[in-house]
Amino acid sequence: MAERVLSPAESGDDDRFDRLFRPSSLDEYIGQSKHKENLKVFVEAARRRKEPLDHILFCGPPGLGKTTLAYILAKEMGVTLHSTSGPAVEHKGALAGLLTKLEANDLLFIDEIHRLTPAVEESLYPAIEAFQIDIMTGDGPYATTIQLALKPFTMVGATTRTGLLTAPLLSRFGYIVRLDYYPVEDLEKIILRSARLLEVPIDPAGARELAARSRGTPRVANRLLRRARDFAEVLGKGAITGAIARTTAERLEIDSAGLDEMDRRLLTVIIEHYDGGPVGIDTIAAALSEPRDTVEDVYEPFLLQQGFLGRTPRGRIATRKAYEHLGKPTPTPAQGDMFS
Ligand code: ADE
Repeated sequence: MAERVLSPAESGDDDRFDRLFRPSSLDEYIGQSKHKENLKVFVEAARRRKEPLDHILFCGPPGLGKTTLAYILAKEMGVTLHSTSGPAVEHKGALAGLLTKLEANDLLFIDEIHRLTPAVEESLYPAIEAFQIDIMTGDGPYATTIQLALKPFTMVGATTRTGLLTAPLLSRFGYIVRLDYYPVEDLEKIILRSARLLEVPIDPAGARELAARSRGTPRVANRLLRRARDFAEVLGKGAITGAIARTTAERLEIDSAGLDEMDRRLLTVIIEHYDGGPVGIDTIAAALSEPRDTVEDVYEPFLLQQGFLGRTPRGRIATRKAYEHLGKPTPTPAQGDMFS
């Protein structure tokens, strides 16, 4: 799969910069203010009571700050964050190994929590409800279960797909944070902050231009900023101006709405090959040669949120806004009922 500049998915290079850019307190964290204020209260209350935070779930598309917030919570609580992911916890024994390492009030971060196996998920329930795990010893007629007490801890789950979480698991979280795409003003502040950390000069027009093309996603904003820094250094005088930001976007084929090649291909497939839809997600994924999950988790949410794509029971449709944005003639109502 070709690397997309706008891909909210993490790359190796991002990881290094994510650490540099990652805010270390809720006060430093930009945007998502409603959740931020609530989380501040929960942290303060838990600290006063000397108890762990209640279990928290972060959901939303990639790159919006789920992992960053988990790190911040651990820091604010003054505890250690232990990080794993759904697919990495292969069996109950691996889970027991993780759980028994936790110190009082530590955070266990489980990324892609919707990908835990049913057996592992089930053995997680007593751990998160009563801070104990059942361990099987012996076999055959000598098999017994012993209960092992754990130190109280907080499970922090992250998922791009809340719909795939089982109801029993979902019901065990005390607070669910649904992260939204960031408005341009917040992305501008994030870009200015990151530019300061990179020590690259940027003017307000440059920050605004990059923010507008960042797909509502801080990870994308930070990646665009790094590319703009390259163009500024080689083609400009080192500072990121509006003109440099525009050149960066043009060179990377990111349009004025922040859509990249893949976004436009997705919409074009629906418009040109399927008369604007409705068309099923599997068909779209096959036409793009991308896994269905990637289309659903990464490409679609932003196009839906921005109103370029619509969802109907019979499949996805390209909206009038998509036709207009791509400069395609909009079909007359007689040709179809897609906008009705
Ligand atoms: N870097 C990435 N996301 C951020 C955010 N929400 N606030 C500050 N810096 C960030």
